[in-house]
Amino acid sequence: MTAVVFVLNGPNLNLLGSREPDIYGHDTLDDIAGQLEDRGRDLGLEIDMRQSNHEGHLIDWLHEAQASGARAVLLNAGAYTHTSTALHDAIKAITIPVIEVHLSNPHKREDFRHQSWVGQAALGTVAGFGADSYVIALEAVARL
Ligand code: DQA
Repeated sequence: MTAVVFVLNGPNLNLLGSREPDIYGHDTLDDIAGQLEDRGRDLGLEIDMRQSNHEGHLIDWLHEAQASGARAVLLNAGAYTHTSTALHDAIKAITIPVIEVHLSNPHKREDFRHQSWVGQAALGTVAGFGADSYVIALEAVARL
C-alpha cells in the first residue's frame, strides 16, 4: 500500500500565482501539487493536496489524515498559522507527524507573523524556499 501524505493549505493560498508574486512566487497551487506528485513518485509517497479558506476544514482534514492512516501532513495554514489555537490543538490531538510549511520566511516579515501556533505543535518547519519549501518538507517525510 502506498503511503499517503496530506498537503493542507489554508486561506488565500488558492490565489497563489497571482497573489503578491514578489513574496509568494509565480507557481500556482496546482503547479506545486504537480511538483509534489513528481517528487512523491520517486519517494514512494502519494500526495493528497487540499486547500480551504475555512479553519474548520483544516481541522477536519487533520483528523481525517490520522483516521485514514496517512503517513504525515504538510500544513501551510496561511494566516491561521499566527492566530489559531484550534489548529495547534488539532495537531496535538493526532499522533502522525505534521510539518509546518511556508513559501515565505515569516520571521523576516511583519512582527505579527513571528508567532506560530502551528509551529509550536508541529514536528518541524520548512519556510522561505518558495514552492521548494513543500518539496523539501516532503523529502523530510521520506527520511522519518
Ligand atoms: C504563508 C505565510 C503567512 O504569514 C501568510 O499569512 C500566508 C502565507 C507562506 O506560505 O509564506 O498566507 O503561510
